[in-house]
Amino acid sequence: MPVSSSTLLLFGATGDLAQRMLLPSLFGLDEDGLLPASMRIVATAHTAIDQQGFRHATQEALARHIDSRRLVAPLIERFLDRLDYVQLDVSNPEQFGALGRAVGDGNAPVSIFLSTAPSLFEPTIAGLAAAGLARPETRLALEKPLGSDLASSHVINDAVAAAFREDRIFRIDHYLGKETVQNLLAMRFGNALFEPIWNAAGIEHVQITVAETVGLEGRVAYFDGMGSLRDMVQNHMLQLLALVAMEPPGRFEPRAVRDEKVKILRALRRIEPRDCVTGQYGSGAIGGEPMVGYADELGKASDTETFVAIRAHVDNWRWKGVPFYLRTGKRLPVRRSEIVVQFKPIPHSIFGTAPIQPNKLVIGLQPEETIRLLMMAKRPGLDRQGIRLREVPLDLGMTDAFADVRRRIAYERLLLDLIDGDPTLFVRRDEVEAQWEWIDSIRAGWAADGTTPRPYGAGTWGPSAAIALTERDGVSWHE
Ligand code: BG6
Repeated sequence: MPVSSSTLLLFGATGDLAQRMLLPSLFGLDEDGLLPASMRIVATAHTAIDQQGFRHATQEALARHIDSRRLVAPLIERFLDRLDYVQLDVSNPEQFGALGRAVGDGNAPVSIFLSTAPSLFEPTIAGLAAAGLARPETRLALEKPLGSDLASSHVINDAVAAAFREDRIFRIDHYLGKETVQNLLAMRFGNALFEPIWNAAGIEHVQITVAETVGLEGRVAYFDGMGSLRDMVQNHMLQLLALVAMEPPGRFEPRAVRDEKVKILRALRRIEPRDCVTGQYGSGAIGGEPMVGYADELGKASDTETFVAIRAHVDNWRWKGVPFYLRTGKRLPVRRSEIVVQFKPIPHSIFGTAPIQPNKLVIGLQPEETIRLLMMAKRPGLDRQGIRLREVPLDLGMTDAFADVRRRIAYERLLLDLIDGDPTLFVRRDEVEAQWEWIDSIRAGWAADGTTPRPYGAGTWGPSAAIALTERDGVSWHE
């Protein structure tokens, strides 16, 4: 068992992610007594404030993001007491000396979390190395985006590899920290029921939808350069696909799990332009609220896609001929992430012409955690005209089944795994690169084809071509 960290060094500590997610997550862990008792959090950023100012800002962030019933004075005090703040300009290597002094020389490994723009990774790593903070046992967590294509991800990965060993690098995909995403593994490999039919013989197709109602959310500079394919598919959706499609790993441990995922990512078939639809939202309404279009929000015309739907295939024995339909978009009618596994129809019906729906497994990731298996059951009655069947859900409402367990922010799990040195739920370099390779090939196809996003109204399920993408195969999106 690796030793837990005695210090967490948090870069970008005054930024949005730190204030909204990371500090509230660390508070949540501290609240439950899960942080090592003497662990210090050394926060650093460019912002000119002192330690008191940072603690005060943190307290305000906790008040904004955590239920007030959990914010008990002694707990807040204990947490704020763990925080040090060092103001730092990462482009100035000399300033890292103060950081080194704040971290000290303890025996336990230091964990470092870079919640900064990737353009700052290189100078930060150089500064860490110069200040003696890139020790062999140090763990380094990196937030996305890890590049904007394969070439730029190489540059980042090489810069990091110059100072840190791959098994000490914790690349974050926050979807892997979500309870329901891990539950996918529990469901597949903790039950004997599904695995025998979890293949092309038993499954007709798979759908993965990550629908969001939010638009640009003030992230203009980042999002307009990226688009949905690179913002959502390259990382979160491909990780979900890999977890659905991978072979059973020998153990739930870093190497075995990631070895299996990367095989799937490498087996993704190159996408033809006809297997891909992109869109950009125009004005519309969501839940009765009027919404302005993307270009108006941006203040200029743009070719960036805010919606993408893809018909993907995993070219291996298990998944031969099984389409994986992926769909994600902003300003869709509802916020919903789900995986739908459509099983094959029964080979022969003994019930004459009574309609029989093939089984379907619906795994809801958010906002509700649900696992629902749609099955055929007999309608009650005396059946004088023959047995009548109806589709009914076999429902595992996770929220009810585990009502007594507090639902955690994905980052709580990931931060604790980082502090404890367990990289199972982090993304390995070969995975990121396989993901970028596939994404780059799609973008090259768009460039060659002159593909530009089709308009869709805010509050709709994307351009109608996304519907045609599945209907060509006689499939409807699950809604
Ligand atoms: C981020 C994307 O990685 O994930 C955002 O950059 C997106 O654009 C977000 O909104 C979605 O995360 P979640 O946890 O709200 O589904």
